[in-house]
Amino acid sequence: MRGYHDASYGDSFADVYDQWYHGISDVASTTRTLAQLAGGGPVLELGVGTGRLALPLAAEGVEVHGIDTSERMLQQLAAKDGAAAVHATLGDMVDDMPAGRFALVFIAYNTFFNLLTHDRQQACFRAAATRLADGGSFVVEAFVPNPHHEPASSITVRPVTADRVVLSVSTSDTAAQRAEGQFVDITESDGVRLRPWSIRWATPEQLDAMAAAAGLTLADRWESFDRMPFGPQSERHVSVFCKGTRANSSSVRPSPLDTP
Ligand SMILES: C[S@@+](CC[C@H](N)C(=O)[O-])C[C@H]1O[C@@H](n2cnc3c(N)ncnc32)[C@H](O)[C@@H]1O
Repeated sequence: MRGYHDASYGDSFADVYDQWYHGISDVASTTRTLAQLAGGGPVLELGVGTGRLALPLAAEGVEVHGIDTSERMLQQLAAKDGAAAVHATLGDMVDDMPAGRFALVFIAYNTFFNLLTHDRQQACFRAAATRLADGGSFVVEAFVPNPHHEPASSITVRPVTADRVVLSVSTSDTAAQRAEGQFVDITESDGVRLRPWSIRWATPEQLDAMAAAAGLTLADRWESFDRMPFGPQSERHVSVFCKGTRANSSSVRPSPLDTP
């Protein structure tokens, strides 16, 4: 998309992100599983955004670092209670990935697909691998692509109110594994606001290959952060890639105490 850059998504969604996406996944089970995988060590979130996950994770006593390319997203995070506990950096998740030895690096809710080429995605795996302590985990949460269900173009309507309508306009290119679109946000008071997005999807098998090339091994794959088994019908996955021998292997099975 001409004119689209790494901060376009965050900058154009920052003012509505929490309102539109607060319910996209179960925060409690996500932070519980992430804290278990971290095993008391420091954590880095790539594309930390408004802190939807980083803030509750930090509130559990986990040392949380985050990076995001959008200043506006980080401003939303900084304005929230508890923000001082999250070490946030403005920058690109690949080129500017913070130095350190993390027990866990994670990237939630399709954010990995914001890297728009195979090479950028591969570079992300390599950079994450260099930041992991031995036994650490790189966790990727994403949708399972289904190209047969991807229309070449579509327009859908989000909920309409008396003074606002939001149209979702998208196109996709199955061969290139790319989709892009705009949320066209029309209000009586402010006119038209465009909110662009662009993704390059990858299958779980392609992620496994990128992990292997970076020296990481698939240790677990679930359908969701509450560790529902992954299967052929799963539409989403949480993949745990491990560096070396996993240090906190006992944490990968839920103990009775973890039952919600
Ligand atoms: C879908 S939001 C997810 C935010 C948060 N992780 C969550 O789960 O709510 C994706 C975030 O990734 C950020 N992002 C996109 N491309 C990035 C890049 N190349 N480097 C760093 N952050 C990026 C966006 O600015 C946005 O805040």
